[in-house]
Amino acid sequence: MKEINIEQATAVTSPDPLMLLCTTKENGSLNMAPVSFFMYSSYNPPMLAFAMGKESNSGSNIRRTGKAVFAAPGVSLNNAVMAYGSFSGNEQDKLKETPIVLQNIEGSNIQIPEDTRVAFVVSLAQTMEFGDHYLYLCNIEKIVADESKDALFAWDGYAKVAPAQEK
Ligand SMILES: Cc1cc2nc3c(=O)[nH]c(=O)nc-3n(C[C@H](O)[C@H](O)[C@H](O)COP(=O)(O)O)c2cc1C
Repeated sequence: MKEINIEQATAVTSPDPLMLLCTTKENGSLNMAPVSFFMYSSYNPPMLAFAMGKESNSGSNIRRTGKAVFAAPGVSLNNAVMAYGSFSGNEQDKLKETPIVLQNIEGSNIQIPEDTRVAFVVSLAQTMEFGDHYLYLCNIEKIVADESKDALFAWDGYAKVAPAQEK
């Protein structure tokens, strides 16, 4: 075996999980950002963890409001996911620049994409500072799913998004 660095490892481990982190900005508008540093972290109570760059708009939103929804994006959102990952909500209204069809879900006032396979309504439990990211631990308040939708995953070290398996 040969030694590789962490960026190379993210390509080797792909497909990696992919979620759109949906949060509310300080001006009340919706922001979305793709997140692959995402994992379940407890069954009882149901919890998840994710890591986000320290300067991200999504991170400051969840730290301020304590609320977010993670939505596993459907295949129609390929271009939107890459667009939302290319700019920060600090500098752009991403939903205005790249509009998508949204839906409301029970238990949250944060809208999510219509094309969503599974969504997790969460509240922030703990924030930890590590390296160049913050690690967030969240309580999962509610989970809704539409298993007829095919979800996107992150490939090639987050360079592209595609289904995990050809149908
Ligand atoms: C497929 C994909 C996965 C990503 N995963 C993460 C991640 O897990 N953590 C992170 O901090 N940024 C991740 N990014 C980059 C952020 O989405 C990007 O920095 C975004 O502009 C942040 O937006 P915000 O400032 O509005 O929160 C990912 C990007 C892509 C395209």
